[in-house]
Amino acid sequence: MPVPALPPTLPAIVAPAATQPTTHLSQITPGAIWPDDRGKHIQAHGGGIIKLGDTYYWFGEDRSQDNEKDKRYVACYTSTDLMNWTFRRQVIAQGTPLEPGKWWALERPKVFYNAKTRKYVMYVHIEGGDKKGYARGEVATYISDTVDGDYQFIRSFRPLNLESRDIGQFIDDDGSAYLIFESRPTKGFYIAQLSEDYLDVAKITCFIESRLEGGALVHYDGLYYVLGSHMTGWDPNPNMYATALKLEGPWSEFKDIAPPKAKTFGSQSTMLLKVVGNKTTSVLYIGDMWKPKTQWDSRYLWMPLEIGQGKMRLPEPRPWSIDMTTGVVSFK
Ligand code: GAL
Repeated sequence: MPVPALPPTLPAIVAPAATQPTTHLSQITPGAIWPDDRGKHIQAHGGGIIKLGDTYYWFGEDRSQDNEKDKRYVACYTSTDLMNWTFRRQVIAQGTPLEPGKWWALERPKVFYNAKTRKYVMYVHIEGGDKKGYARGEVATYISDTVDGDYQFIRSFRPLNLESRDIGQFIDDDGSAYLIFESRPTKGFYIAQLSEDYLDVAKITCFIESRLEGGALVHYDGLYYVLGSHMTGWDPNPNMYATALKLEGPWSEFKDIAPPKAKTFGSQSTMLLKVVGNKTTSVLYIGDMWKPKTQWDSRYLWMPLEIGQGKMRLPEPRPWSIDMTTGVVSFK
């Protein structure tokens, strides 16, 4: 079967006219420019999403073209319908906390809310300081009293002394919080539980010996599904998933989420979002379509997954919407 691809040339970002009315979206269009409430393309790449009450908070790398070169930025957006996102603020906008050296990378921010301490703890993948390129392989933690406050740097470290690159987040149905992190020396990735205050990575729940990054997890209908991408930097590749009855494993073998030739329709896994409605539960694939030379124009591929009985399939991207009350997805 031929694999329909996304249009090869995506429209360029056009600066909105000053008089442009507030954007209201009634669908999610994978791969398109995604305007926020100001009409600006959402800057939340490699992101993480948490739900507090009825509100979703989307944090991600803010790669705006007018950002200062030596600083790194994390933006926070909110939504109640997953289509229309309000820009709250840049919750991180700062120079390197790592000495010495100017270049640094802050990637894939994930925020966890700790109900006991009432603090918001952010994990990021951090690179730089005295290490050139991506040689550091650490996470950094940040903390804030409010969800969209100024996140303060705490420290950078290797979780349980293990090299850590791409990170993912997972909150289980019982509220326990996990960090997923990829580690080259052991040729695989870890699912690790956070400490009670979330300020540390406490214990390895599972090591999965598969060289996958962009790790994402969801618990659906009695099964855990883990998803990841191969390691081709910013370039897309065929992402794969496996299943297990328990987080500890054993995990099934990895299978393709979409026809391999489609290379995940030009995207890379970032997270899996479960929306529980009163009629059904939908699981959304949240991926990044990176544009390494024009990062601010990187797009998002969000699609409802076909999932169940140990199978997970990313259908061909097309516009869709979700009813947040029922959880039912419709295609346009
Ligand atoms: C990708 C990774 C991104 C970023 C990039 C840098 O593999 O998923 O988050 O680190 O490499 O080349």
